Parts: sequence; structure tokens; C-alpha cells
Amino acid sequence: MGKRQEKCLKIDLAFTPVELEKKDLTGKAVVVIDSLRATSTMITAFENGCAGFIPVATIEETRALADKLKVPNILLGGERRAKAIEGFHVGNSPRDYSPVKVRGKIIIMTTTNGTRALVAAREAEEIFIGAFLNLSAVCRRLTESGRDVIIACSGEKNLFCIEDVACGGGIIARLCADSNSLVMTDAARAAKLLYEHFSPDIYKMLRESEWGQYLIGIGLSEDIAICAQIDSSSLVPVYKEDKVFLDR
Ligand code: MLT
Repeated sequence: MGKRQEKCLKIDLAFTPVELEKKDLTGKAVVVIDSLRATSTMITAFENGCAGFIPVATIEETRALADKLKVPNILLGGERRAKAIEGFHVGNSPRDYSPVKVRGKIIIMTTTNGTRALVAAREAEEIFIGAFLNLSAVCRRLTESGRDVIIACSGEKNLFCIEDVACGGGIIARLCADSNSLVMTDAARAAKLLYEHFSPDIYKMLRESEWGQYLIGIGLSEDIAICAQIDSSSLVPVYKEDKVFLDR
């Protein structure tokens, strides 16, 4: 079937949350990516029946919000340096978010970069949660949205992370394959090329990334295999009014 003819859409990519904060998000659709591991973990949690996430910036805010909400189905989740936080119910490994642990639960979550990127995306019209796990499903939502797109990479402490950019490039490559009226910025074109270079073996790229090497070094190599499962989910969580949830 030929490519669809539609209005010219612009697709851009921000390498870090600081770069995203400099962009005009009015009317845009933003995809927040933290492929190792926060957005992969969120998608896994929704696959296992969790009710939603409330992303917050600090550990103190997480605890204070849980005290304020005082509802029984709340869990505290997140990490610092990829390690679970003392006294929290779950860390940031997808393996922590099993059905028995998260079914029906709302997780108040703080991570080093992923939740920071979500907060930076707040002014966008629509915000989707993306990872390698749901690449094609995210593209379907973006096409349906019909808005200009900005891919928001979480990075690592506001530095470039190859895995988030390659993941964003996977979304861009799929959108370009389906439409001949996309205009890419230089950043989007670079991300697409990065994805095309690594797409024969995404798992290898993740393992060899700086953050992947760090995770392997602290005994979390199993998480990388989970985060590499391209299109293992068709769920696309959305971020709206400070919550991450499934809107369909
Ligand atoms: C992050 O948000 O920086 C990462 O998800 C950290 C991690 O791998 O836990």
C-alpha cells in the first residue's frame, strides 16, 4: 500500500531534558524515552496490571505524597544510581513490577532521569511513554494524534545516552516508512541513522552502552534483555495532569 498523503509534520528530538526545556511544546506530541530503564519499567508494570504512576522529582516528595494520599493501593518506587531506595516497595527494575506486586497499585516513582524528563515535557499537548518495548504502538498513537512530534530523551544527568537516541530513532524510522510528508530536524535525522546502524542487534547496543555497562557491573544484566524486547507490548501509557496511566 502506498504511503499516506497528509499534512507536513515536523519531527524533532531533544537529547536531554535541559534541551527539551528550551523548545516550544505548545500543541506538540512528545514521546518520553528512558529505555534503560524507567519507561521500559513503566510499560512492563502496565502489562502486569498496575493502575498508574505518579512521577515525582525527589525521594522526599515521594514519601511526603504517600503520607498525604494515605490510600492503601500506593507503592513507593524508583532508584538512585539504579539501586532501589531504602524503604521503598519497588526499585526501577522491570522485574520488580510483577503482577502479584503491582496489580491495581499506583506507584509514586522517582528516578534519576526518567521522571525528570516527564516533568520537562509537561507543557506538551499530548505526552506518550515510549521505549523499545512499544515502538510500533507509539507510532500508531503519533500518527493518530497528527501533531508535530518531539522525542524527549532522558539521557543520564543531562548528558547524551545512545540508547535513548537510538530508541527515538526507531520511532522516527517507522514514522518515515509510513509517511512521505515528515520533515525531520538534524537531531531527528541523526537519531534515525543511529537506529538504522544498530537495528540489527539492539540488545548488543544496549549491553555496550555506558549505562548498560554500569547496570551489568552492578548485577542487573537481566534488565537489559527485558528492555531490548522490541514491540513486546502494544500499550502506550500517557502522562497527563501529573499522572501516567493507560487512556485506552
Ligand atoms: C533513569 O531514570 O535514570 C534510569 O531509569 C536509571 C535506572 O536505570 O534505574
